[in-house]
Order: sequence, then C-alpha cells, then structure tokens
Amino acid sequence: MRIDIITVLPELLKSPFEASILKRAIEANLVEVHLHNLRDYTTDNYKSVDDTQFGGGAGMVMMIEPIDKCISALKAERHYNEVIYMTPDGETLKQGIANQISLKENIIILCGHYKGVDQRVRDHYITREISIGDYVLSGGELAAAVLCDAVIRLIPGVLGNETSALTDSFQDNLLAPPIYTKPREYKGLKVPELLFSGNLPKIEKWREEEAYKRTKERRPDLLED
Ligand code: ADE
Repeated sequence: MRIDIITVLPELLKSPFEASILKRAIEANLVEVHLHNLRDYTTDNYKSVDDTQFGGGAGMVMMIEPIDKCISALKAERHYNEVIYMTPDGETLKQGIANQISLKENIIILCGHYKGVDQRVRDHYITREISIGDYVLSGGELAAAVLCDAVIRLIPGVLGNETSALTDSFQDNLLAPPIYTKPREYKGLKVPELLFSGNLPKIEKWREEEAYKRTKERRPDLLED
C-alpha cells in the first residue's frame, strides 16, 4: 500500500511514522508513506495556499490551484483508489472504514486547514471525506495520522500476531473482553480462575460473554447496528 499525504504542515506528521509499529511497517516495505508540502505547489512568491472567502466572512479558504497541481502530479505517476479529505463534516471513522481502506493499493489524503478547502476541490477531486470525531482540530494532520495508524496496522504482516487485529475491539461490533497477565495474584488481586483451567472452549465462551457484557454497559449503540 502507498499513502500520499498532502499537508501544509509536514513536520507535524513526521513522528507518527518514525516510531513503533508504523515505522516497522514502512521498514518492512509493507506500506510507503509520502508527505507532500502543499507550499511546494504554489505559484506566487509568498507561497500562498489560502485566500479570503468569496461572499465575505471570517477565515481563510485553501485554494484549488496548489491542490490541483499536487494531486495531478501524483495521479500522473500512478492510479489512486481514493482521494480522502480529512474534515470534521466527513463520515465518522469507524473500524469498518479502516478495514475497507486497508485493502486499497494507493491512496491520497488531503489535510484541511483554516476554514477548509474550496468546495470545487471537494466536488471534483475528493472521493471520500472522513472525520475522526465530533470535535474540531486545528488541522487535518492529526486526523490523518489517526486514520493511517488505524489502516496500516490492518495490513497483513504489520502486526506480529496476524490474528490480533481480528480480535480488536469493534471488529465484530463488540468491545474487547478483559485481559490479564502475570502475576497470577498481585496484592491480593486475583485473575479469574477459569483462565487457568486449560479449557479453551470454556475460556472462549467466557470471553464472548464478557465482551457482550462490556459492550452492553458501555456502548449499547454498537449492539443496535
Ligand atoms: N480536521 C479538523 N477537525 C477534524 C476532525 N474531527 N476529523 C478530521 N479532520 C479534521
């Protein structure tokens, strides 16, 4: 998979890809992530990427020209399956969307800033608009990092244990059950006895029940879908 991220703040997006699982995925050539500074596609001396709104109103709007130049340059090199715009008014990111995107070969992610981008960009270049939640960030970069993390860890080979992404919370619309590790007892706090029984079907059944109980308590909305 190849991810091209278009941003006015590439430095904000460097560190997530330089640590831990994402770094290892890149080093293992399971994913390529390329950052593109939108200012490199500007045509004026000031390297402007934004301007005031037609019709008046507070806040700057990202201009179509640098975005078109950047996206067109990328599209001249290869086919893209999606051009995603990170925006608080997009569809809310869910595990299912991350699953879908992880199957794509090449994607572009455009990070918004200021008031957002010229509507013509959204109408003619963007194939999908994604929000990471009902709150407004100062730009799309952190949202793009969240999306990339959620997607990249699903690419086969990225996680050490191939099955572990399948047992994540949300994969089956259930939250994950409680988990325990050594020591068996700590300051009188015990691990449920059943987990030492060696009875795998029974343990699996307990985990399913606990996952259901937790989901019902914390996220009953997930059970309605
Ligand atoms: N840009 C600003 N806020 C955002 C959000 N919640 N999700 C995606 N992109 C954003």
